Amino acid sequence: MTRAMEHNLNGSTLAPGDVQLIVQEVMLRFGGVTALAGVSLEVRQGQIFSIIGPNGAGKTSLLNCTSGLYRPQQGEILFSNHHQTTDLVHMPPYRIAKMGIARSFQNIELFKHMTVLDNIMAGCHVHMKTNILSGMLYWGAAQREEIAFRQFAEEIIDLLEIEAIRKQTVGSLSYGLQKRVELGRALAMKPALLLLDEPMAGMNSEEKEDMARFVLDVNEEHGVTIVLIEHDMGVVMDISDQVVVLDFGRKIGDGTPEEVRHNPEVVRAYLGEDLEQTELKSFSFSS
Ligand SMILES: Nc1ncnc2c1ncn2[C@@H]1O[C@H](COP(=O)(O)OP(=O)(O)O)[C@@H](O)[C@H]1O
Ligand SMILES: [Mg+2]
Repeated sequence: MTRAMEHNLNGSTLAPGDVQLIVQEVMLRFGGVTALAGVSLEVRQGQIFSIIGPNGAGKTSLLNCTSGLYRPQQGEILFSNHHQTTDLVHMPPYRIAKMGIARSFQNIELFKHMTVLDNIMAGCHVHMKTNILSGMLYWGAAQREEIAFRQFAEEIIDLLEIEAIRKQTVGSLSYGLQKRVELGRALAMKPALLLLDEPMAGMNSEEKEDMARFVLDVNEEHGVTIVLIEHDMGVVMDISDQVVVLDFGRKIGDGTPEEVRHNPEVVRAYLGEDLEQTELKSFSFSS
C-alpha cells in the first residue's frame, strides 16, 4: 500500500474536460522525409490520450514538436494553463517544461551516474524559484525550498515503490526500473501534461503491468493528463480514453479505443506492418 500523497502531482489549472492541447495542421519535414503531414488533434484535461501507429509514423516527432525539441515548418500547438493559451511552436524546451509539460523519452535519458533520488530531484528544479545568486542572498529561503522539494521527491519515490533503490546510481538498475525513475523525474516537474514515449517498451509483462498501474494512478488519483505512445495494444485499449492513429505522418484514426479498433483504414495500415505482428493480431482480432 502506498501512503496518500501530501502533494498533488497535477500542475494544470484547468477543469477536467477542458481543452488543454490543440495541435493544428502540424507539418514537419526532414529534407525529403515528411514526418508529420498536417496533423491535428485535441487533448482534454484529465484524459489518457494514446498515439499509436507503425514505426516511422511520426509519433515521437509529434511529442518532440510539443516539447520544443523539433520545430514544425507549419501549424500551431496551443497549450492552455494558468489562464492563458500559448503557441508552443516557437518556444524553447525549458520554457515549455516550466509551463507544465513533462516527458519521458523512447531511449532513457537520465543522469546515469547519479542516484535515483538525485535524478528525481533534478525534475523538481524546473520549479526552483531561487537561483545561485538569490540563493546566496537568501540562504534560508533556498534551504526551505530544497527541503520542500526533497519531501516531494520522497513522496514520488513512495508512489512508484522505489524506496529500496533510492540511493542507488541509475546506471546500475535494470531497464524496467530506469523507466520507472524516468517517470518519477517527469512527475517531479508537477506536470499539467505528461508525455510518455513508449514507457513500457522492452519490459517483461510484470514490469509492464506495474508501469500501467502507475500511469493509471497518476491519471486517476492526481488527474494528470497523459499523452501516451505505446505499442502494446492490450494496454492502449485498456487504459485510453481516446486514441489517435498515425500512419506516414497522417492521422488515419481518432476516437475511443472501440471506434479506432473498428476503423477500416486503421486495420488496413496495421495489417500491412509485419514488424509488429503480435501486437497487430491482438489489435485487429481481439474484441
Ligand atoms: N531528427 C530527425 N532527422 C531526420 N529524420 C527524422 C528525425 N526524426 C524523425 N525523423 C524521421 O521522421 C519519421 C517519423 O519518425 P518518428 O517520429 O521517430 O516515428 P515513430 O516515433 O512513429 O516511430 C521517420 O521517417 C524518421 O526517420
Ligand atoms: Mg518513436
